[in-house]
Amino acid sequence: MPSPLRIGIAGLGTVGAAVIKLLDRQAEALQGRTGRQITIAGISASQRDKERGINLSQFRWFDDSVALASSSGIDLFVELMGGADGTALAAAEAALGAGKSLVTANKALLAKHGMRLAALAEEKGIALAFEGSVAGGIPIVKTLREGLAGNSVERVYGILNGTCNYILTRMETEGLSFGQCLAEAQRLGYAEADPAFDIGGFDTAHKLAILTSLAFGTMLDATAISVEGIEAITLADLEAAAELGFRVKLLGVAQRTPNGIEQRVHPTMVAKSTAIAQVMGVTNAVTIDADAVHELTLMGPGAGGEATASAIVADIADIARGVRSAPFGRPAGLLEQARCAPMQMHEGGYYIRLSVYDRPGAAAAIATRMAERGISLESIVQRHRPGAKSTPGEAVPVVLITHATHEKSVREALDAAIADGFLAAKPQLIRIERE
Ligand SMILES: NC(=O)c1ccc[n+]([C@@H]2O[C@H](COP(=O)([O-])OP(=O)(O)OC[C@H]3O[C@@H](n4cnc5c(N)ncnc54)[C@H](OP(=O)(O)O)[C@@H]3O)[C@@H](O)[C@H]2O)c1
Repeated sequence: MPSPLRIGIAGLGTVGAAVIKLLDRQAEALQGRTGRQITIAGISASQRDKERGINLSQFRWFDDSVALASSSGIDLFVELMGGADGTALAAAEAALGAGKSLVTANKALLAKHGMRLAALAEEKGIALAFEGSVAGGIPIVKTLREGLAGNSVERVYGILNGTCNYILTRMETEGLSFGQCLAEAQRLGYAEADPAFDIGGFDTAHKLAILTSLAFGTMLDATAISVEGIEAITLADLEAAAELGFRVKLLGVAQRTPNGIEQRVHPTMVAKSTAIAQVMGVTNAVTIDADAVHELTLMGPGAGGEATASAIVADIADIARGVRSAPFGRPAGLLEQARCAPMQMHEGGYYIRLSVYDRPGAAAAIATRMAERGISLESIVQRHRPGAKSTPGEAVPVVLITHATHEKSVREALDAAIADGFLAAKPQLIRIERE
């Protein structure tokens, strides 16, 4: 019988506590599946006496997570503290440096230091596993790295932040404002007290950076991602989207283009008929377009203690079995430096909502500005609230949908339209993602 796998867990919050419960609940099954017993040889958090809803008295306590990470009493260190730097980084480096495999759900840490940590793990011949860091309980890391190893990925995109999807879903279904839905998300504990990280798109960007590296065999580079959040999305946009057969989702998209790899996070119009458009509330989903499998969508709980623990325990089980995959799908030295496609070269359809002064010639002038840059319009809709009458000179909402065009052309056409003086407010621009 092989010796037990001794693990140390630092961070006993939402995820850490759920991991301890799941390891206990599945102890027998895990031993059967891995051929080894998995034992918790040490735990650590900030406050020893905090009530966590589980009995921790049986486990050895470490005041110092970094000391736990390099302790001779463990084989594997599970980092569940969070944060891109500080104790999480120090403990991760200490563990790998001491030859202990590392499991983490910390996308912020990986987005910033993932390449270095992967190289260190490789040098030491140990595992670095992070299934819980992207899309919670959805096994997307393993799907891209192992399940699709025989494919060439063209595009990977998804709803990677449950808070944003919850807010957009509530706005659409209840007709509530962004501010109302954000307050409700905070009350229900979905959003952080400081929600900027979620709604600004940065959390999605960290996860996308990891997916991009796995999908395209490139070095992880979160700084190459163009990031826009959902703060500026209004009910008027969601209503117009619904009338035009779309829904608005915050997507992270990584795509192979003739100009290089495009990585972007932004609110996106998706056709209501697509799989990704059906994803409501805090659920996450990831779609992969690849040459052999064509299209594959995985959908499920993107956060929460138990769902994330499911991913972390799967990583622990792999390590117990002796699985040592290259963290990002190939040896660190073979990951390529990505050629980053500039957003100005992005090609796709656009939804543009304008507030246009109701003056003779305004609509024609805007159409001309578009035509001058070769932008062809799929539709132009002048939108009035039911019963509302406009008076000449007042601003009226106009929604344009373009055929595929370049971002640079759209931006230039809108700048020209603003200079013409027909627009009463900054245009709203939402990219359309086609299947
Ligand atoms: N929550 C989710 O749904 C979810 C989903 C996917 C990934 N993740 C990732 O999982 C990680 C943990 O998230 P969480 O939601 O469980 O966070 P959390 O509830 O805030 O728990 C964090 C834990 O880390 C401990 N901690 C913080 N700083 C520490 C330090 N310097 N030294 C020792 N312990 C420290 C805290 O100790 P005290 O309890 O004593 O304060 C707490 O137990 C993060 O990287 C997060 O991004 C979370």
